[in-house]
Amino acid sequence: MARPTPVIRAALRALACALAGCAASGAAHAAGDAAAGGKVFATECAECHSVKEGKDKKGPSLHGVFGAKAAQREGFVYSEAMRSAGLTWTPANLAAYVSAPAKLVPGGKMKYDGLADAAQRDDLLAYLAATAAR
Ligand code: HEC
Repeated sequence: MARPTPVIRAALRALACALAGCAASGAAHAAGDAAAGGKVFATECAECHSVKEGKDKKGPSLHGVFGAKAAQREGFVYSEAMRSAGLTWTPANLAAYVSAPAKLVPGGKMKYDGLADAAQRDDLLAYLAATAAR
């Protein structure tokens, strides 16, 4: 297997941190800053997504999406492309999807150009990982 990229390592650390509940430690910071990620989420994603359980907007609720299988939210109508993609939202897949949705899921219906900034993606993943543990 390929060596994990910094993004993946950071996201895994963030997940471990979220699960183990390490309160405001330096480790959480190094992994990508969940608080900063919350701000990225607010400006980039909140128009279409909520992290509240069961709250779908234009896009499905992202509560607990970190590590989950794609296209599983009941009551949300996904594109055929997303339903048949067979993806699991690993840190690598989430990072790839957020950076270029149409590249990972061609024909999908998330109308978002992509987040180019890798540091912002790290922060965003830390934020999403934290919602999974709530
Ligand atoms: C313009 C609206 C819009 C924006 C902005 C948007 N999304 Fe989406 N998102 C969608 C839609 C619609 C889908 C369903 C895609 C499909 O079915 O092909 C989706 C699907 C997803 C999924 C898959 C969820 C699942 O249940 O499998 C993830 C993860 C996701 N978006 C993350 C993000 C993140 C993170 C951002 C911000 C960086 C973002 N999205 C911005 C509309 C949007």
